[in-house]
Amino acid sequence: SQVPFAVNEPVRSYEPGSPEVKSLIATYKEMWKEKFEIPMIIDGKEVKTDTKVQLQSPQDHKHDFGFYYKGDMQHVDQAIESALAARQQWNDLGWEQRAAIFLKAADLIAGPYRDRLNAATMIGQSKNVHQAEIDAACEFIDFLRFNVEFMTEMYAEQPVSDNGIWNRAEYRPLEGFCFAVTPFNFTAISGNLPTCMAMLGNVVVWKPSDKQVLSAKIIMDILDEAGLPAGVINMIFTPGKETAEKVLAHRDFAGLHFTGSTSVFQSMWKQIGNNIQDYKSYPRIVGETGGKDFIMVHPSANAKEVATAMVRGAFEYQGQKCSAASRAYIPKSLWNEVKEVVGAQLKTVKMGSPEDPSNFVNAVIDKNSFDKCKGYIERAQESADAEVIFGGKCDDSTGWFVEPTVILTENPKYESVCEEIFGPILSVYVYEDADWAETLKLVDETSPYSLTGSIFAKDRYAVAEAYKALENAAGNFYINDKPTGAVVGQQPFGGARASGTNDKAGSKMNLLRWVSVRSVKETF
Ligand code: ALA
Repeated sequence: SQVPFAVNEPVRSYEPGSPEVKSLIATYKEMWKEKFEIPMIIDGKEVKTDTKVQLQSPQDHKHDFGFYYKGDMQHVDQAIESALAARQQWNDLGWEQRAAIFLKAADLIAGPYRDRLNAATMIGQSKNVHQAEIDAACEFIDFLRFNVEFMTEMYAEQPVSDNGIWNRAEYRPLEGFCFAVTPFNFTAISGNLPTCMAMLGNVVVWKPSDKQVLSAKIIMDILDEAGLPAGVINMIFTPGKETAEKVLAHRDFAGLHFTGSTSVFQSMWKQIGNNIQDYKSYPRIVGETGGKDFIMVHPSANAKEVATAMVRGAFEYQGQKCSAASRAYIPKSLWNEVKEVVGAQLKTVKMGSPEDPSNFVNAVIDKNSFDKCKGYIERAQESADAEVIFGGKCDDSTGWFVEPTVILTENPKYESVCEEIFGPILSVYVYEDADWAETLKLVDETSPYSLTGSIFAKDRYAVAEAYKALENAAGNFYINDKPTGAVVGQQPFGGARASGTNDKAGSKMNLLRWVSVRSVKETF
């Protein structure tokens, strides 16, 4: 049978004064006054504990908007037991019944829950209306609808059969439970990781980031309203390291779907390796981790387009996207013009709370992130190797605000050019036009990561040269566009090297990791 054809959810433009923006800001203000009490959800039930952890908004760290109940190892055990107990019935339900739940969830987000999920993302994760809309609403809706469609395409793929033989592929869920570990920076990613596994008949223990619990809870409310049975996805707020140790030591652990830091992913992979003889099956491991994403510019490029891509690519959502541009390589002949336009654009950029939709830049997620950014900025200000040419102010008097900052350096190995910062800091290296080919090589050699990257050039030979030279430096490669903003169903997202297993979120490639195929041959 056919499922409704997936199309990308239209992004609301939130024009100033429009009814849509008024409604979203009104919801934000109402929710801002609330004191949320956020429980874990295990076996469909709210679980409260004696340990309450206060929730603070990044844009105003004196404003607490409630607390979440922190769990311990017994809750990890309960979540695993609940998932395993739900498994058989969930499998037996059949894919049409499962698909309908996730399509209904998408419709709930598109309609009645849109403002609430967007506002939660603004309060808890400091996104402005536009960044919240493309993430929590549109990208999450797209993940749900496209994955349902990809799932049906996948199930429909069958081997060739011949006279007297009937070959079949049966797409079974993994035998055991799956573990989803999700980050603060995209509500859509936190929603996608557990739901895409569950859609295929898997049962899930889900540990969201403790910086994202408000929007995570709303996702669970939506799934509950859409009819997701108890136990299929169990959401726990437990200490990360111990939780991983416990989950990854379980005999029925069948798959890890992770988005977060490279170091945490590598440590989990090692634990899986250590336990490998204890599992019922070899677990599937899918991870999307760090990035140090580049913009590489050829002398034939349009300087204004480059400057806009730098500002949007590096500073939207305060650079807290794994895809964010964090290093730019500009030919000397274009640098003055690029610099002028970047400077002019940054002058118009406002920083402050998402409550005011005209604030392009909001707060970074927490004190750790603030301190990390401040450290890079201060060291650049003091370094003989670098110069802060735009921004550089850090203000934590109300919230964790870091001004969009551009660091210029003549050292292509300078720390801010090579290390992932995950904040609004862009490093620029200006090269001699004649060194184009060498600089391409340099970009590749200084890429331990391989997530996203852009090439800007009018010259087709240059585009082709960069395309080849940077073949392995980016899993998502953009020609004359910023390196952020991949759209589900259009640019499947993910990278290799230290950026992950490149199993492309929101694609059939990813869904295939969560099924275990039985090949059936029948002769007549
Ligand atoms: N998928 C997100 C982007 O492309 C991270 O910006």
